[in-house]
Amino acid sequence: MDRIVIHGGKPLKGEVRVSGSKNATLPIMVSALLAETPSIIKNVPKLRDIDTMAHLLRYVGAEVEQKGDTLIIDPRGFERWKAPYDMVRKMRASIYVLGPMIARLHRAQVAMPGGCVIGHRPIDIHLRGIQALGAKVSMEYGDVVATAQELKGAEVSLEGPYGSSVGATCNMMMAAALAKGTTVLRSAACEPEVVDLANFLNAMNARITGAGTPTITIEGVDSLQGTSYNVIPDRIEAGTFLTAVAITRGDAIVRGCRAEHLEAVITKLREIGVSLEILDDGIRVFVQGELRPVSIRTMPYPGFPTDMQAQFTALLSLVKGESIVKETVFPERFMHCAELRRMQADISVSAGSAIIRGVEKLRGAYVMASDLRASASLVVAGLAAEGKTEILRVYHIDRGYERIEEKLQQLGADIYRYDPAKMHKKNSASK
Ligand code: UD1
Repeated sequence: MDRIVIHGGKPLKGEVRVSGSKNATLPIMVSALLAETPSIIKNVPKLRDIDTMAHLLRYVGAEVEQKGDTLIIDPRGFERWKAPYDMVRKMRASIYVLGPMIARLHRAQVAMPGGCVIGHRPIDIHLRGIQALGAKVSMEYGDVVATAQELKGAEVSLEGPYGSSVGATCNMMMAAALAKGTTVLRSAACEPEVVDLANFLNAMNARITGAGTPTITIEGVDSLQGTSYNVIPDRIEAGTFLTAVAITRGDAIVRGCRAEHLEAVITKLREIGVSLEILDDGIRVFVQGELRPVSIRTMPYPGFPTDMQAQFTALLSLVKGESIVKETVFPERFMHCAELRRMQADISVSAGSAIIRGVEKLRGAYVMASDLRASASLVVAGLAAEGKTEILRVYHIDRGYERIEEKLQQLGADIYRYDPAKMHKKNSASK
């Protein structure tokens, strides 16, 4: 199993380009199933989650072809209404097939995703939503079974205990696109990835208005046609590079990102004292002088993203004074803190908050990646730490970051990947 090794302490310099958004691509790939003809999706990142989704789409009967950063999805063979546990457990976003299955095949059987290391992640809002459109929902052997001869437009609130749900909003837009009549989604998620999905669906002839606001209206249509579409850049990958440059006190340009998608991140970086210049095709980030501690509260968009919480925790661990990070979206999402402590960060976690007391130095250590963004925070910390950091279980990083070590090498980082099992074989062979 691959590991990433970082010799930290070098200020990052130069330029790096962000890839297409993972969290926008996944629902867009699934929604290609709603059309009667093939779609071409461009600016797709090369990631494990994308491969897992392609595998699931092939399983349900679609053809998926990948050429560089382009995917061609032909939905004409889509006829299987089952998504088995073995696939769903690998990636929670598999739950997105629920919408297209019920809309086009009138039946869906999708294994319930379990919990994961970022905590209890229910799907009750998804189910409440499709029930409001007229689907009958039951549970069989851990699978959600939904049936509906016809979906009918309705007014649905997607409010959940922690605000709106990105996943449920996407699923509902897909199901309602082919429903009879008008659906109004209240308390919808406003994330850029939701807007991207709505734009893709509209390019396929759906009639969706209001995406990006808490009220989304969908006029059902009889059929959708495939289209050609460019996915938005990944705002979380961009934000991760911004924090990586900031923690190393470097000076670099993150190309291809959209500053308007990163407002909460930019605001917090500036509050910390990081300098940012918004350019036509990206953001320059550099540090002059002392950084200051801050308070952060994760919130649904346009608030501070939960997917940037771990990377900021790493950054703040080297900022003198006391910072507080409150996680309100996934209150148990603090697995990275124990690993950062192994690198001598001073962090305590209680009641959904991390209290970070800035230290002079982080020191390299063996650390374990536990989930996607937690692993990103260990990379960010490793880049600034003294000595060698070795990150185990990097497959978590590969789920969401395209060639992260190569991109960081472009910025001058001393980082590489290796597989100890292969090294061992090589060594024994040469004896
Ligand atoms: C998506 C992103 C994930 C990101 C998260 C928050 C994808 C594939 N994943 O996840 O990377 O961290 O948004 O921006 O795009 N909830 C319920 N019931 C539900 C659904 C959600 O209570 O039926 C709760 C969740 O437990 C969580 C909150 O609502 O506390 C937000 O969840 P949601 O936005 O749905 O997250 P995901 O779509 O799973």
